[in-house]
Amino acid sequence: MQLLDGKKLATEIKLEIAEEVRKIKAAGKKIPHLVAVLVGEDGASQTYVASKVKSCEEVGFKSTLFKLKKDITENELLTKINLLNNDDSVDGFIVQLPLPKHINEEKIMLAIAPEKDVDGFHPTNVGRMTLNLPSYVSATPKGILEMLNRYNIETEGKHCVVIGRSNIVGLPMSLLMQRRSKPGNCTVTICHSKTNDLAKYTLQADIIIAALGKPKFLTADMVKKGAVVIDVGITRVVDASTKSGFKLLGDVDFEHVQKKCSYISPVPGGVGLMTVVSLLQNTLSAAKEEFYKKSMSFGLDEL
Ligand code: GUN
Repeated sequence: MQLLDGKKLATEIKLEIAEEVRKIKAAGKKIPHLVAVLVGEDGASQTYVASKVKSCEEVGFKSTLFKLKKDITENELLTKINLLNNDDSVDGFIVQLPLPKHINEEKIMLAIAPEKDVDGFHPTNVGRMTLNLPSYVSATPKGILEMLNRYNIETEGKHCVVIGRSNIVGLPMSLLMQRRSKPGNCTVTICHSKTNDLAKYTLQADIIIAALGKPKFLTADMVKKGAVVIDVGITRVVDASTKSGFKLLGDVDFEHVQKKCSYISPVPGGVGLMTVVSLLQNTLSAAKEEFYKKSMSFGLDEL
């Protein structure tokens, strides 16, 4: 069994990005600028956003964090987004999810200008990704592709089972694994909470991507010998023995599943760190106008 070491890969990729930033600076160009918008005080969201901001610093990006009160109105948040859409100093921005219940997340995602949507959540980016057109790709699936690529894991002709159909991970992941590219060219099965006899599918899988958010859900009896197992789960559970008072659990029963795998990603130290790096890569793409020209900005009026 080989561990898919997200920490090692993330460090490697951050060094590569830092080198690009150095060249951008040396050429006298503007350094990439990522803005993160955090609404409310959700503990997990605060941790994730802090990690994104810290990673920006590590690679030499400019970053700005806007912390907004949890009772901000939907209209106030839309106004903030409109300002960011039209702020030329900002290459890309994210609105950390989940949002408080009184705010419609779909409406918020739609308000973000596609060319600044470095999360890749806007329907324009999802649609472009689906059609294999240049676009920002949602950070977690993008990080998993990078992981498969850098570990040289063969995916062509393999059966990939994705567990979970969320807009952020399961759905884009399943589309990316089947597309005509490397990594890709898999036969893909999407399983979800309504799938009957899930083990029937996972036992046939060469690659399993577990993204359902249920700690230790995937057990050894559900995994074929030699399978590649990617764990996307990051559930916080209370643990008084740790400094923070909680620990992170993946969707995979790592201790037992690892004995059957060819490759497995751990939690923590796996996909989570790749996700942050993907966001940096998307921000760099935004700064370099790789997918969209900056002149394409539009305001709320045009939505
Ligand atoms: N909440 C959980 N994952 C993500 C993510 O990748 N981006 C944003 N904006 N919110 C999240």
